[in-house]
Amino acid sequence: MRRDVVRESYSARSQEYLDLFGSIDSTHPSDQALVASWAATLTGAVLDAGCGPGQWTDFLAQRGLAVSGIDLVPQFVERARVQYPNLSFGLGAFEALDAATESMGGVLSWYSLIHHNPQDIEAPLAEFARVIRPGGGLLVGFFNGTTVEPFDHAATTGYRWPVAELSQVLVTAGFEVIETHTRTGSGYRPHGAITARRRSGKTAPEIGG
Ligand SMILES: C[S@@+](CC[C@H](N)C(=O)[O-])C[C@H]1O[C@@H](n2cnc3c(N)ncnc32)[C@H](O)[C@@H]1O
Repeated sequence: MRRDVVRESYSARSQEYLDLFGSIDSTHPSDQALVASWAATLTGAVLDAGCGPGQWTDFLAQRGLAVSGIDLVPQFVERARVQYPNLSFGLGAFEALDAATESMGGVLSWYSLIHHNPQDIEAPLAEFARVIRPGGGLLVGFFNGTTVEPFDHAATTGYRWPVAELSQVLVTAGFEVIETHTRTGSGYRPHGAITARRRSGKTAPEIGG
């Protein structure tokens, strides 16, 4: 998915997104528990990659982390800056992060890789792997599925991933998978989350989980 398509799709429906998802209160309690427990493992600077309106950025800041957010969509970044004036938000793309190599203790990518074509997902993950220091954390939230497949997302085409396949992509990108989570239930699309740690070596170990 081209970045300009993603940006324009969310820009066109930004108010709707803000109304529906712009508050941490609209997130699932078990997601809050997962992000909070992951946050407790981190030290150093943290990036909320694809922060949208900044609700998770603020959630991480409230847990004592030095966190900033970036997103493609100007309306989201503006809203985040207004809502959370003490936090730092920037317009930016995962594929070219304005951060030094190994400068981050962690990256949160909460539903922000969902529009990447599977063949394009290596580029953002390579950037995440570049900026996260060895031992630092990555948390990816995504739409779970039995196969890698596109679907009609309200903004623009989204992709479902089986946990095992996305885990393998993370391993290839330089991460060790720590935990995987899935959730199904009425009113929710099947959800997946993976926590991973930046490896220091080059070799890919077995996937944990
Ligand atoms: C489904 S929203 C999730 C936003 C936020 N993480 C949340 O949980 O509400 C996906 C977000 O990822 C951002 N995004 C997608 N691809 C991106 C890219 N290549 N670089 C930066 N942001 C991107 C979109 O602009 C959008 O705000």
